[in-house]
Amino acid sequence: MTTSTAGSKPDLLSAEAGRRRTFAVISHPDAGKSTLTEALVLHAKAITEAGAIHGKAGRRSTVSDWMEMEKARGISITSTALQFPYTTQAGNSCVINLLDTPGHADFSEDTYRVLTAVDSAVMLIDAAKGLEPQTLKLFQVCRHRRIPIITVINKWDRPGRHALELMDEIAERIGLKPTPLTWPVGIAGDFKGVLDRRTGMFIRYTRTAGGATAAPEEHIAPDAAHEAAGIDWDTAVEESELLSADDADFDPETFRDCSSTPVLFTSAALNFGVNQLLDVLAELAPPPNGALDVDGNRRDATAPFSAFVFKVQAGMDSAHRDRIAYARVCSGTFERGDVLTHASTGKPFVTKYAQSVFGQQRSTLDTAWPGDVIGLANAAALRPGDTLYADVAVQYPPIPSFSPEHFAVARGTDPSKHKQFRKGIEQLDQEGVVQVLRSDRRGDQAPVLAAVGPMQFEVASHRMAAEFSAPIALEPLPYTVARLCDPEGAETLQKLASVEVFTRTDGALLAVFSTKWRLENVARENPTVSLRSLVAAGD
Ligand code: G4P
Repeated sequence: MTTSTAGSKPDLLSAEAGRRRTFAVISHPDAGKSTLTEALVLHAKAITEAGAIHGKAGRRSTVSDWMEMEKARGISITSTALQFPYTTQAGNSCVINLLDTPGHADFSEDTYRVLTAVDSAVMLIDAAKGLEPQTLKLFQVCRHRRIPIITVINKWDRPGRHALELMDEIAERIGLKPTPLTWPVGIAGDFKGVLDRRTGMFIRYTRTAGGATAAPEEHIAPDAAHEAAGIDWDTAVEESELLSADDADFDPETFRDCSSTPVLFTSAALNFGVNQLLDVLAELAPPPNGALDVDGNRRDATAPFSAFVFKVQAGMDSAHRDRIAYARVCSGTFERGDVLTHASTGKPFVTKYAQSVFGQQRSTLDTAWPGDVIGLANAAALRPGDTLYADVAVQYPPIPSFSPEHFAVARGTDPSKHKQFRKGIEQLDQEGVVQVLRSDRRGDQAPVLAAVGPMQFEVASHRMAAEFSAPIALEPLPYTVARLCDPEGAETLQKLASVEVFTRTDGALLAVFSTKWRLENVARENPTVSLRSLVAAGD
């Protein structure tokens, strides 16, 4: 039934997989993720002027901030997949797949889904602030999934903390051994350039106006560097020697097993250090390595085609009110028009509408390789976590839903829009914008929306009104904790005060409690009732 070409050109498949680098940037809001993303694309020469991808409030036009609400708030809520070719300064060509993640903690479930689709992550840290809460949470997700991390200390052009102090903080607070690849010449706020610790060269930066173009770099030999940077060079050399004495030199093995992290110093806004980051991604970040299936067996990248959906998103802009399922290719070659199998239903899946999505710009995607992201338009049957395959069956593990902490009853405010209301709620549920819970007691007209963060409710309300013409009113419910239970337990729990039991769309029974103390009480008084934890945000 399939027409996949996987297997027919094994050398090509292996070479194409080997040059993919699929990663995401994790950071606390304001560390400079959008600025860095623009700078990376600019340096790879995919765009000629910074500012065309992420338009924050007050910046240039927007490509990925697709929703009015995002524009108003100046935050990026949705994920975008960017792909661009890059040739390293040594002449090696690779393909970068940069998966964008929402910065706000309320969307950590969305970020988690994206992190299931990457092979490495860039942990972006503000030089003045060090490790911040959202960075720490996302780091824990990466550690849990064993995703190797490249650390970037950004905003070095501004006064900030001492570089050695930041290294200590990384080592002590998250237990990763920092192994700097570059070391700053000049303290934060007085940035002269970096010492490339692998070559010993001084890379001097020259300022460009507003960071609108790629910054020119000058490579100066060590013996001329003192003359160029004076005492700052000597200090950088001394500190670098201290690091070597402490065994803080790059080690590929510990990087890949997530116990050490190479470190770079940048100023994304001034385009400093961005070339180094691209080169490090190309040379050191791991290429796709297949994926583990539900039984823990690895399907190699060179096996027949397989992919899993990590995100479903609709209404990306007013010109395309459709729905895209983003699938990460794990193995094999994808050719548009291939007929795949949808593992959860066993049904054939036609891929005529495959697209690549670059910010808001879309183009038809004809071929994709392991590590790439395929945007499948109008894929109504696909949900996050679904597997698609060709030739040889495989099922990848489901992506766990997070434990909701906010609950609200949704009611349509316009009774004539009943149909649109149902359709909208179903769509938001399938995309994973919110979880939708139902119970006999509350009836189908008033589903309960459950979220990790309250901003998910804002997105749901906004989209119900703007996209489905079915405005809703949300009535908050006084619950803050959820646990999975079984049908026998549900019967007992339903009779208790400050506890309610709902059925989630995937069939799971969720018992919700007003507080964690109420939950502990109930668990103590009903020892035979099984109450299992869901994945918590930041686990
Ligand atoms: P985010 O996506 O992580 O939330 O951060 P974003 O890139 O929006 O950057 C947050 C602020 O930090 C922006 O300033 C941005 O210009 C600034 N910034 C990012 N990288 C650097 C850097 O390397 N050096 C310096 N000095 N600033 C940096 P803003 O005032 O909020 O916006 P804008 O008016 O400058 O665009």
